[in-house]
Amino acid sequence: MKIQFNDPATDFSNALFVIKAYHEDFLKRGEALLRLVDKISTQGVDEDLAYQCMSAYWHYNIANHLHHRDEEEGVFPMMLGQSALTDGMIERLLLDHAEIEKSWANLAEYLSQPDKINNTDYLRHLAEEFERLQRAHINREDEDFAPRVKALLTASQLQQLGDKLHHLRHKKSPA
Ligand SMILES: [Fe+2]
Ligand SMILES: [Fe+2]
Repeated sequence: MKIQFNDPATDFSNALFVIKAYHEDFLKRGEALLRLVDKISTQGVDEDLAYQCMSAYWHYNIANHLHHRDEEEGVFPMMLGQSALTDGMIERLLLDHAEIEKSWANLAEYLSQPDKINNTDYLRHLAEEFERLQRAHINREDEDFAPRVKALLTASQLQQLGDKLHHLRHKKSPA
């Protein structure tokens, strides 16, 4: 079974476009993940649902890594030191990343090996927790942090940052 990773970002001319494309993709995939878990709860894991689990696993495993790296090596360093408010926001967002990654590691254990799914209530608990953490974090970034980035960085800085994120993908390929 060969599953390809399709980068949700296609426009790197502005770092905010890259971040936004990932956020929209994560929100859609979060809803799909909850629907998948619903189906597994009612009908068990058949071949098609096992494939969907593996496919979700492959995508998230690469996308989570790329997206957190875009923010932690690109956007956050450029915003650091601008104000106590943005520094505090970044500190909080980094804590969120650690929490999301921990939650993902728990869920990934089952999505990557669907034959191991024998407790659907527990799977639902893990999926709901992961989706809730991602959604709350994305809302915080979109509503609180992105407006500060827009206000503080020039169009040329955003373009430089977009180039950097594009370059990061080609320099270091994800696992
Ligand atoms: Fe983030
Ligand atoms: Fe983000």
